[in-house]
Amino acid sequence: MSFKKSILCIGAGYVGGPTMAMIAYKCPQYKVTVVDISSSRIDAWNSDNLPIYEPGLYEIVKTVRGKNLFFNVDIEEEIIKADTIFVSVNTPTKTFGTGAGMAADLQYWEKTARKIRECATSNKIIIEKSTLPVKTALAMERILTSQNSSIRFDVLSNPEFLAEGTAIKDLEFPDRVLIGSRETPEGISARDELVQIYLNWVPKQKIITSNIWSSELSKLVSNAFLAQRISSINSISALCEKTEADITEVSKAVGMDMRIGSKFLNASIGFGGSCFKKDILNLVYLCEQYGLSEVASYWHGVVKINEYQKERFVLNMLKYMFNTLAGKKISLLGFSFKADTGDIRESPAIFIAKRLAEEKVELVISDPKALQNAKNELCNLDITVSFIEDPYEACINSDAIAVMTEWSVYRALDYEKIYKDMAKPAFIFDGRNILDHKKLFEIGFNVFPIGKPSMSHL
Ligand code: NAD
Ligand code: UGA
Repeated sequence: MSFKKSILCIGAGYVGGPTMAMIAYKCPQYKVTVVDISSSRIDAWNSDNLPIYEPGLYEIVKTVRGKNLFFNVDIEEEIIKADTIFVSVNTPTKTFGTGAGMAADLQYWEKTARKIRECATSNKIIIEKSTLPVKTALAMERILTSQNSSIRFDVLSNPEFLAEGTAIKDLEFPDRVLIGSRETPEGISARDELVQIYLNWVPKQKIITSNIWSSELSKLVSNAFLAQRISSINSISALCEKTEADITEVSKAVGMDMRIGSKFLNASIGFGGSCFKKDILNLVYLCEQYGLSEVASYWHGVVKINEYQKERFVLNMLKYMFNTLAGKKISLLGFSFKADTGDIRESPAIFIAKRLAEEKVELVISDPKALQNAKNELCNLDITVSFIEDPYEACINSDAIAVMTEWSVYRALDYEKIYKDMAKPAFIFDGRNILDHKKLFEIGFNVFPIGKPSMSHL
């Protein structure tokens, strides 16, 4: 069968896999191929056990895989065949050298650019899907054109705004699709080609275009604004705990102002995920590089409050459990950074588990989808840690339960049964404010939510 277009995506991760699956699903006239340097990841994409858990993803992959969606490791060959190349490799925080702990590590990105230049034998549109520091497209263009060949590369920025757990819905019905290009005739023509791809399912008014630097920066700023809301409400949760105000009531009252809006105002143990922290630190680093130290320190505050919130949670556990946790059995309900994903990258549960280990507790970790990842993360702790999927079993003989992730299954548990099997006094620390606190108190628990008055029998 001949296809109208050959689309390639380099990087088969949380973004590359679902994004390309959606393009293939919505555009049967295009051939979509996803490549990666990790052969085990590609094998998993070709199996019934996909490398990531995302509601609705498997059904879509199953429908189009082998028809117009393909996964393989033949990077060189696929670069030659493609006319449009998305790059969605990882861009983690640098861990070494200048900018360590702050700047984006662009080594994977740059290797990809060099590989494209080395293999391409015809003109290509190159699309930045990864989240990158503003001005990265310039570096990309320089690498691609450094061999003075006659091949033309047009670099576009098309940041991805999907959230894990809702990726399929976000891809199918995006709030907006942003495409940044050079404002030259060639740049605009490349941009129009990408617009045509999205027009297969995204309404025209939701596809916005901009200059390439605005597009790159908008992605960092979107994540910074979202994280800022969480840090704002979390900072106020600390004040609520001192004043008997209730953070849920405050969030509701504040969020009903249409100018503010109600989303992303749920107080929690802090935001996690692979991107918020890394993208804000990247923004902070960029501001510092441009000599904007006040702007840098403003945004750095968002990350600092997040660290404070996680530490505060552990200190509250310590305080309310008589200032000693040593030898106590603590069950963490949830380990993923949010519900409906098995991803634990930057999950606040990691920090909390490691801090509790310093206090010499015995840990039990429970999660419906992230247990294997949790095992890999915590394998070097020098305390007893067990990994038990069944939440009832996970709480037997525990001194305390701490809710880490807002999985809906935890809302519906039989807490009377759980209470009976626990050590007494039984504590529950609801790090997501998802449980019925009054009912738990009536059962006999000592209840400690986030940003609300605690309810204790002691
Ligand atoms: P990921 O780590 O899940 O996937 C990246 C993949 O790229 C890996 O499978 C890795 O093996 C592959 N890779 C690295 N170097 C390669 C190379 N030279 N050639 C081929 N493959 C290579 O990362 P992710 O979560 O998909 O994120 C990718 C980018 O998208 C990041 O910049 C991230 O900030 C951004 N982003 C992520 C999300 C999200 O929800 N995870 C959402 C929006 C944007
Ligand atoms: C986030 C953004 O929402 C996406 O738009 C963006 O594309 C993505 O980052 C990215 O660039 O990687 P994601 O991290 O997958 O998506 O998930 P979110 O729903 O944003 O949640 C992030 C964290 O904030 C989670 O730990 C979540 O539990 C926490 N959160 C969220 C709160 O603590 N309170 C809230 O009110 C909302």
